[in-house]
Formats: sequence, C-alpha cells, structure tokens
Amino acid sequence: MSDSPDTHRKISTHTFHLKKQRGEQLTMLTAYDYPTARAVDLAGIDSILVGDSLGMVVLGYENTLPVTMEEMLHHCRAVSRGASRALLIGDMPFMSYQVGVEDAVRNAGRFLQESGMNAVKLEGGKERLDAVRAILDAGIPVLAHLGLTPQSIHKFGGFKAQGKSAEAAGYLLEDALSLEDAGCFGLVLESIPDRVATYITQKLKIPTIGIGAGSGCDGQVLVTHDLLGLYDRFTPKFVKQYALLHKEIDTAIRAYQNDVLQGKFPTQGHSFSISDQEWELFLSRVGES
Ligand code: KIV
Repeated sequence: MSDSPDTHRKISTHTFHLKKQRGEQLTMLTAYDYPTARAVDLAGIDSILVGDSLGMVVLGYENTLPVTMEEMLHHCRAVSRGASRALLIGDMPFMSYQVGVEDAVRNAGRFLQESGMNAVKLEGGKERLDAVRAILDAGIPVLAHLGLTPQSIHKFGGFKAQGKSAEAAGYLLEDALSLEDAGCFGLVLESIPDRVATYITQKLKIPTIGIGAGSGCDGQVLVTHDLLGLYDRFTPKFVKQYALLHKEIDTAIRAYQNDVLQGKFPTQGHSFSISDQEWELFLSRVGES
C-alpha cells in the first residue's frame, strides 16, 4: 500500500508528518455541528477542529472561558457523525486540564471515548508539559497551541498578537521545541509575527498550523464562521472572508417575514390537500353539512 495521502483515506497524525516532510500544506477548519462537519469533510479539508471558539460563535459567550466539557462533547458528537475522512480534534476547554494531570488525562480521554474525536488540542507551553506528557502516555495524540491562546486573554489584556519582542519570540521557540520533544503531533501558532512563525516552523519536525501567523507555517486553520462571514460581531485582521453569509441570512429572513405578512407564503404548492369526498365526510361528522 502506498503512503501517499489520497482523497478517500482517513487522515491520521501520520498524514500530518508526511505532509510536512513533503512540503505539502495542511488544511484545517473548525466545525461545531453535523452539516458543517459534512461540508468541510466532503470538501477534502485535512482536519476538523471542534474549537472552544464555539463558545463565542455558536453559544454567544464573550470569550471562550465559560465553555464546559459537556458543551464541547455535545458538539464533538455532532461533528463526528458528519465527518468520516478528516482528522477530528477536540479542543480541551478552560479548566479541563489546568487543575491536575489526572483530571487532564480523564478529560482528554472523554473526547476519544465519548465523542468520536481522534486527538485533542490544548493551549500553553512549558507550564502544560506535565499534562501534555500524561495525555500522550495514555495514547491520546495532542495538538499544541501557542501564541495568542484565547483561554489566557485576561493575562494578555485582550485578544492581542503575541511574540512581538525578541524575548517573547525566544520563549515561543523554547515552548515549541519542548512541546515537540514531549511528543505533540503538531502545533497551532496563533496571532504571532510571520517571521517568528516561519522561524519556528523551520526549527520543528512536527507541522505548524498557523492562524494569523503568516504563510510560512506548514498549514492553516480558520474559524469557519469567520471564513463564511457568519459571525458579524468581530472579524480578526487575519481572517479572509470567502462569503458574507450573515447578510444573505438577513435577506432571506426578511423576505420570509414579508411573504408571511403579505400572504405570499405559503402558496398552494407548499400545502397538502384533502379529497372533496373526505372533506364532505369531515363536514358532516362535525355537523357542518
Ligand atoms: O477554538 C478554536 O477555534 C481555536 C482555533 C482558532 C485554533 O483554537
């Protein structure tokens, strides 16, 4: 059997390594529900991240901090029913891996055992190495995440780009090397200068997946709601919108409302009929004829 990733075979963490070795770009998108997972999977995207960004773009929270394990697992189950080829990655929510190593392993395990995920992602560098190692020891693949890690927004003072000083860039490189050394199969780099991301990418054997980290990474990830223009509250600088679906949704909803108010919907074509004979019978039964 050949090693080449084809369009039908299930993507694995091994495919990630192969693609890096071959210099092929990796593609990743978020999904939080069955139809989106199906669309992303059928398009041939390599990996689906059920990101805790769902807290903001689906559940309407101000940030990702309130998202719970139960909410994550609920959405992961829907995604796993909709995708068969892409590598499925569940995002470990705030406080599901920070308190203790045992907790971290148990929660990581739930993503695979209860919701059909193939791997987990968690945020942080050296301070998370114990948790990362323990999860890996349990046989669960880990995707690491450095840079603007949204679960730390209060530490950063908001959604701000990271790694912009020589010192901060140096810490990012050290963290990246430690996470690779621990055995992570890949690394998300979020909102860091493109030169820093490219340098880290060149120093690692594992692939980097960038979001707001320039074109020098081994792959790219975006929040699908941003790409589709579905989330109108805020669009980060690094997002390219390929559609403006919130506008289309607004147009469609208003057209429906007008049709209903003006008696244009439903038409006969949207309705069901009863035969004249059954109708007469009904009227006689209710004493109307
Ligand atoms: O939660 C998420 O969607 C993420 C991506 C932005 C990488 O962490």
